[in-house]
Amino acid sequence: MTYSRIAGTGRYLPEKILTNFDLEKMVETSDEWIRTRTGVERRHIAAEDQSASDLSVEAAKVAMDDAGVSPEDIDMVIIGTTTPDLVFPNIATIVQHRLGIPACPAFSLETACSGFIYALSTADKFIKADGAKCVLVVGVECLTRLIDWSDRNTCVLFGDGAGAVIVKPSDEPGILSTHLGADGQYKDLLYYPSGPSRDLDKAGTKEVGIMMTGNEVFKVAVKTLGNVATKALEDAGIEQSELDWLVPHQANIRIIQATAKRLDLPMEKVIVTVQDHGNTSAASVPMALDVGVRDGRIKRGQLVLMEAFGGGFTWGSVLMRF
Ligand code: ACO
Repeated sequence: MTYSRIAGTGRYLPEKILTNFDLEKMVETSDEWIRTRTGVERRHIAAEDQSASDLSVEAAKVAMDDAGVSPEDIDMVIIGTTTPDLVFPNIATIVQHRLGIPACPAFSLETACSGFIYALSTADKFIKADGAKCVLVVGVECLTRLIDWSDRNTCVLFGDGAGAVIVKPSDEPGILSTHLGADGQYKDLLYYPSGPSRDLDKAGTKEVGIMMTGNEVFKVAVKTLGNVATKALEDAGIEQSELDWLVPHQANIRIIQATAKRLDLPMEKVIVTVQDHGNTSAASVPMALDVGVRDGRIKRGQLVLMEAFGGGFTWGSVLMRF
């Protein structure tokens, strides 16, 4: 049986850092409030001349180097993002060209914070069912472009970044299962009120910002992430105690802790990076994976569960032997 396996990881965070103390000067908030309610200490902000493709290219280069692959080896590019450079062409084609990857399928997926999980799951299917040999998968976001910096409910939460992986076929396990889900009935709890076919002229203006009913999002997120993780383990016939690592979406430390508790998983087995960059949406899972791999915690052969939840709502998981 052919598995798909992550052959390399990478991440990129823009240079500019906005701390909680910086935010104290912008809105009525405090470092203490932000840290205790969210776990976030700082977030990175893309420079004015940087867009999501720039962040993606940097993360992709690191992942390609890690996997020992050159642009010519890559035969598919999939990018999860809600904040692409342009309406079209899709961001994956821009990244493909910038990296010198020869003509191949290149497309993006827009499922908010679950973008990377959807993209990785798609790569897995193309490798198993369609013979793809080397897929570049990126989760990237320049979400701070959509922030209303006068809204303390949302401006303290989000940050920019990119995470990338190279996925290849392997005889050894790899990705064991993927589960994806969505339920559009929750749209009004978390959305951005303008887009290419609706009120585009308002995008990025003071008139609109991320609309979120935080405490309701919180409740559904905890419940759904717990269910997603349990289903992934049950379907694979794996006990939660066998899990080496949980790599969750980094939205809020309290959501992460509550999910770990529902799984009866000690926090020592959970990769947490939210303090360093806030909620980077589609970028958060691949960046956390890269952190865990590079600091030596996540080792080859270990059992890893990645999961995400975001606007829509959308959600998903990938269970794998790293
Ligand atoms: N600083 C100080 N006070 C604030 C701030 C702030 N930055 N933001 C809100 N408050 C105030 C509110 O106005 C409210 O005041 P009030 O009681 O006088 O009305 C009070 O703090 C409590 O507000 P709540 O919304 O009830 O606070 P809660 O404990 O729920 O924390 C938070 C808010 C952090 C947004 C939380 O609900 C959350 O994290 N929800 C999940 C949202 C999320 O992660 N969204 C991202 C996308 S989805 C995803 O990635 C999972």
